[in-house]
Amino acid sequence: YKITIIAGARPNFVKIAPIIHELEQVKSEGATINYRLVHTGQHYDKNMSGSFFNQLKIPQPHVNLNCYGGSHATQTASIMVEFEKELLSNPANLVLVVGDVTSTMACAIVAQKLHTKVAHIEAGIRSDDWSMPEEINRLITDSITNYFFTTSETANKNLINNGISKDYIFFVGNTMIDSLLKHRPHFFAPPIWNKLNLIADNYMVLTLHRPANVDEENRLKFTIDSILAHSNNIPIIFPVHPRTKKVLERLEISYPKLYCIDPLSYLEFNYLVENAKAVLTDSGGITEEASIQDIPCMTLRDNTERPETITLGTNVLVGMDPIKIKPHLARLFKGQWKRGQQIPKWDGKASKRIVDVFLELQKSEDL
Ligand code: UD1
Repeated sequence: YKITIIAGARPNFVKIAPIIHELEQVKSEGATINYRLVHTGQHYDKNMSGSFFNQLKIPQPHVNLNCYGGSHATQTASIMVEFEKELLSNPANLVLVVGDVTSTMACAIVAQKLHTKVAHIEAGIRSDDWSMPEEINRLITDSITNYFFTTSETANKNLINNGISKDYIFFVGNTMIDSLLKHRPHFFAPPIWNKLNLIADNYMVLTLHRPANVDEENRLKFTIDSILAHSNNIPIIFPVHPRTKKVLERLEISYPKLYCIDPLSYLEFNYLVENAKAVLTDSGGITEEASIQDIPCMTLRDNTERPETITLGTNVLVGMDPIKIKPHLARLFKGQWKRGQQIPKWDGKASKRIVDVFLELQKSEDL
């Protein structure tokens, strides 16, 4: 039984690693299940890709499609062209896609058109915001998915409301949290820690990469201004995504307490988060990780596809208007932030549940 696993962008690597390890495990116990790892090349820097493979012990991809850069249409098209050749040369029983990036959608389309079943990890989550490229990727991927692996009850409900039969929805938990819990003992301080003599609970971490926040120079500047104006003069560590870097370079801003650094490796980034006073971000995955690490998290977006990070986790939806940051930071410095609670099935065992489903599917006629 052959599974082709797709990974293209940074958050994908974190989500596939524990699934691959679980597949290796069942293989070593005699299961006749093989996988082929396809890197689309969407993220290609050492910082965005290579270090994640090393630290999360992901085996070298069997193939890299090298489809980097370009507009969304160009990137989608080039991934489709290359992945079609790949899947024709190496047919699979199942194509496994994760998350919501361009690679996820492009490969799901190719697989389904070649009559190969698609499994989607992190299916069913919705921001209902069609201005986000990720939401389009989610909608399209889920409309042509056969097996839906979900992280939350909200995702289950969304899928059922879309007419998906319960038989194909597997509420397994969150593989990103599998990675977090597994690697937690190995987090280590990045060089900036010693360079600045950082002290736990006395700095904040900032990440921004969504087009709506970073593509427009004035908006990015206004957001950074608002954070710095109300951050009690503690250091703000800002690992800058390549997309954001291009805009930031044009802005030429400088603040004494803002430290812009290259994207960090997984183990270093999560060390910083785990010791931070708070995280300010427009990422989805970081809101999940901060919730489990019980670190206050402010999301600089108007919506989230991960509502459980708000109802149960440490996350608060600040909104897109930078003026709204002030009261949240004020609350943080008064020590009035909510604590994180347990989130159902975010327990480090999602990948095992996923592979158990694969083994069942393999046994059934369905495959
Ligand atoms: C992508 C995902 C987003 C995810 C994010 C995490 C889509 C539509 N978006 O956004 O969901 O949260 O990754 O990081 O798939 N670049 C580099 N080096 C790299 C990677 C990218 O310089 O290693 C450049 C690209 O050439 C491009 C820009 O950064 O100019 C943005 O990259 P892109 O892959 O288009 O999307 P992200 O913004 O990273």
